[in-house]
Amino acid sequence: MNTIHINPERLQRFLTEIAAYGATPDGGVTRLALSDEDRDARNRLRAWFEEAGCETKIDRMGNMFFVRPGKNRALRPVMTGSHCDSQPQGGRFDGILGIVGGLEAVCALNDAGATLERDLIVVNWTNEEGSRFTPGTTGSGVFAGKLDREAMYALKDRDGLTFGAELERIGYKGDEDFNPGPLHANFEYHIEQGPVLERRGMTIGVPKGIVCLRWFDVFIEGVPNHAGPTPMDERQDAIHAFARMASEIFAIGLDSDGVVATVGEVHPSPNSRNVIAGKVHFTIDVRGWDETETDRVCAEIERTVAEKARVTGTTAELRRTWEVERAPFHPRLVSLIRDTARELGLPALDMVSGASHDTVYINQSTPSAMIFVPSIGGRSHAEVEETSWTDCAAGADVLLNCLVKTCND
Ligand code: GLV
Ligand code: MN
Ligand code: MN
Ligand code: MN
Repeated sequence: MNTIHINPERLQRFLTEIAAYGATPDGGVTRLALSDEDRDARNRLRAWFEEAGCETKIDRMGNMFFVRPGKNRALRPVMTGSHCDSQPQGGRFDGILGIVGGLEAVCALNDAGATLERDLIVVNWTNEEGSRFTPGTTGSGVFAGKLDREAMYALKDRDGLTFGAELERIGYKGDEDFNPGPLHANFEYHIEQGPVLERRGMTIGVPKGIVCLRWFDVFIEGVPNHAGPTPMDERQDAIHAFARMASEIFAIGLDSDGVVATVGEVHPSPNSRNVIAGKVHFTIDVRGWDETETDRVCAEIERTVAEKARVTGTTAELRRTWEVERAPFHPRLVSLIRDTARELGLPALDMVSGASHDTVYINQSTPSAMIFVPSIGGRSHAEVEETSWTDCAAGADVLLNCLVKTCND
């Protein structure tokens, strides 16, 4: 089959309409996993895919699979997709672009009257972000056999609501273990979420893989006391301990060889201006392509946390919350994406994915690769997240043509 193209106006309409679910006043979205907004966006996606002739399957993790049948249903299917949950005050492109890109590919194939050899499955993975329920990539992790479903059902959000109960409440605890069997290939189309493509004037990013990731939770205990009468040299101030740890963690990341370290959540207690804090709970996210260097940074962070607790008269417990090994993608699919971009006349750059994605797990059992498009100003996980409509369409065109080739080979 010759090169075919997506319809850029329709893609833009899908993206604009879906951004209404959880829209924030400042132009972003808050569509936390298993919230009402997530449910409403899922319902919308389902209606669109079914209008486009796909069959919907929902598994017991709430992962949604939209199947476009191929000519030979005995062949291994090809999968694409991403996630529709977002960060709090997140952007309109993270995740959802990959699902809507798959939807647009299906519509473009319908317009062309094309039936491919293999089934094409577009997927919406549950809870990629891990912001409401930690860890993230839970839907894909259970699908890939890397996370335990019952343990994921038991996860609690900050209000004490469980993943399992919320999944049931929004009506997305499917009743089957949809298992398409071994897959032929998996593509995830996503925004870059960093500054590299824009700075280099490139349209398509071709990552060779996803960095490894380590998450920690730290619990500091000091002594709560009155902010007025307590002498400075007699304080066991949990916020003081936290501040020294956080500042050092930043410095360790800065001095490392390509590893990034982020303190993202802080929960002081009692969080009152005239009380010396008795407790602080905070989180650390560490990522890098080089696993040895990443683990060296983690060990240094562990040492720093212990040391800063000691010198501030507090105690600190550091728990390892989540760990994912790096995911090198399948070389044949990486080349296919690079070649397809070239055929379409789009400048493409080899790179690494600094963000994590559902493909980090799917990659372990299925040949996988990703397609990136530029993030304006390198901003993501923020309301200002933006990718030009032209670039959204260019990436979707690459996706469509990669799907056609792999569904027919
Ligand atoms: C999720 O978007 C992550 O990369 O942490
Ligand atoms: Mn994402
Ligand atoms: Mn994200
Ligand atoms: Mn992500």
